[in-house]
Amino acid sequence: MKACKFLWLAIFLLQPQFAKANEIDVIKKTITQQLPSVEGWCSEEKSNAMIDLIVDVEPEVCVEIGVFGGASILPTAMALKYLDKGVVYAIDPWANVECTKNYEEGDANHSWWSEVNLEYIYNSFIWLLKNNHIEDYCVVLQETSASASPKIPEIDILHIDGNHSEECSVFDVTTYLPKVKSGGYIWMDDFDWRTTGRAIELLREECDEIIAVDNGNCVLFQKR
Ligand SMILES: C[S@@+](CC[C@H](N)C(=O)[O-])C[C@H]1O[C@@H](n2cnc3c(N)ncnc32)[C@H](O)[C@@H]1O
Repeated sequence: MKACKFLWLAIFLLQPQFAKANEIDVIKKTITQQLPSVEGWCSEEKSNAMIDLIVDVEPEVCVEIGVFGGASILPTAMALKYLDKGVVYAIDPWANVECTKNYEEGDANHSWWSEVNLEYIYNSFIWLLKNNHIEDYCVVLQETSASASPKIPEIDILHIDGNHSEECSVFDVTTYLPKVKSGGYIWMDDFDWRTTGRAIELLREECDEIIAVDNGNCVLFQKR
């Protein structure tokens, strides 16, 4: 009788669906363990939500505006590697002068972004891609969202997390939202910043809010 129970359990565990779910859980755990040592701001909740969305949508094209050390590229590219399909365009100039644009001198953002060593952050990002064997799933564009935009094809999943000034966040929505497929998705980060308010209004005109993570600080939209 006992042997029979074990046999049923073994058959259940060997089901392809169970094995796949288990593989995703292992990927999520591996990323969660790495995140504290990766330069950037991606929580475990956001990382898991990004992975679930990718596994569900099976995108050909993901785009991230604002990469920094790759904290949110890591779950994206790892999920694409799991699917063995699609790429993420990682857009960031890694240049202090772009990060401080539209911020007044004396603003806390201006001082932080003018001092951070972005060459070091860029190198740590490249190392992150190599160390996780995800280079084939990531196209690195070391330039601003403005100059990268002609290179970007139709988008399945867009993540807007670049310069958060009103001018730049509005630019990113007006330039990149038309490239997102109808039914495609947009993660909008730093939702509670006063300066991203206008960009969020523009997103709401064409998209529905699907879920919020990080206590509402990051919201997933779906384009109608
Ligand atoms: C908040 S950080 C991105 C955080 C990252 N997504 C994460 O999860 O850790 C913002 C990034 O936007 C980049 N950035 C600034 N101006 C930009 C622009 N015009 N186009 C694209 N990226 C820009 C900065 O270099 C910086 O790395």
